Amino acid sequence: MNGSKRKKVIAGNWKMNKTAAEAAMLIENLIPAVKDAECEVVILVPFLNISTAIKMCEGTNIRVGAQNCHFAESGAFTGEISVPMLIEAGVEFVVVGHSERRQYFGETDDSVNKKAKAVIENGLYAIVCVGESLEEREAGDTEKVVGKQVKAALFDVSSEHIGKLIIAYEPIWAIGTGRTATPEQAQEVCKFIRETVKNLYSDEIAENMVIQYGGSMNPGNAEELLALEDVDGGLIGGASLKADDFKAIVDAANVK
Ligand code: 13P
Repeated sequence: MNGSKRKKVIAGNWKMNKTAAEAAMLIENLIPAVKDAECEVVILVPFLNISTAIKMCEGTNIRVGAQNCHFAESGAFTGEISVPMLIEAGVEFVVVGHSERRQYFGETDDSVNKKAKAVIENGLYAIVCVGESLEEREAGDTEKVVGKQVKAALFDVSSEHIGKLIIAYEPIWAIGTGRTATPEQAQEVCKFIRETVKNLYSDEIAENMVIQYGGSMNPGNAEELLALEDVDGGLIGGASLKADDFKAIVDAANVK
């Protein structure tokens, strides 16, 4: 069991889903469904749904985040959104370096690091995603790949700001595939991430860091995954799009 002082964080990554009307309906259903949660509940919504989400979630226990940002404060970056803009909108969390962004939008370890720093140095929480592909796992390179991603993401991140950084271990082969990591696999890699953080910083910083698992987490497997010693929450894609499923995962995080 997870006996640490770390509060679990259950975050729903909606990805590119939900029109304005659909978003409002989902949030309306989520508010009563998760109101008694003991964990942190976060929804990571498309940029255009942020203002609705913030308004609707005001005074509730649901916190709102974005799925990406640019690392510059402002400038000639057509189509991008800066951290100050997100702060102005009321956002508290930003996903950085999701594998879909690394794969389809040219995100690199370097841009992930710059974005993570921009987010946490401005006082928001960054959820930094790392994870290996199936080929990398089968080649026995999981720790090598994940270790490199973690070190690159944390490059030049000061101990002063590291408390705002959450790492999400999302094996690429488990995302949207229905093929979840086994509890042993999830625990092994999350523990390895914590060790890596410990070697870079300190015992205390590693012990306090929230490390999530993501990849086909659902009401059927959440309790087992969330009970693992080094798994402090979940980053949930598909199952965050239905209020009942997301509530069931939030409830699973509340099980002691
Ligand atoms: P799924 O839960 O749909 O597998 O997505 C996981 C994910 O990528 C969350 O960021």
